[in-house]
Amino acid sequence: MQIRRFGVSLEDDLLKKLDKLVGVHKFPNRSQAIRFLIRKNLVEEACEKNKEVSGAIILIYDHHRRELVNKSLDIQHDFSHSILSTQHVHLDHNNCLEIIALKGKAKNLKELSDKLIALKGVKHGKLVISTT
Ligand code: NI
Repeated sequence: MQIRRFGVSLEDDLLKKLDKLVGVHKFPNRSQAIRFLIRKNLVEEACEKNKEVSGAIILIYDHHRRELVNKSLDIQHDFSHSILSTQHVHLDHNNCLEIIALKGKAKNLKELSDKLIALKGVKHGKLVISTT
């Protein structure tokens, strides 16, 4: 892919904020930080317009709560068209980590994520959405 250079004019304080972002994310340079911001914006736009996106949900839950496991499976079957794969890791005696890889309309993925994370017994959950 061809790389083009262009000049960017920024106010002092905005440039400082950009450089802070470069530091926080350990970007090698400002160009990489600007790429990151553009792509982040494109992902947000794709979500707002309910476009096809990819993503993953992570869930941490106590597997002793059998009703939670059953409900989670019921919900996942309802959204099987959006689920690419699931990985289940037994973290310790009580806790399970589940990673659910997704592809589908942004609103579908959000709905699935909301339903799973709201289940009683889920200790933590997070949805990450990306586009290519
Ligand atoms: Ni487990």
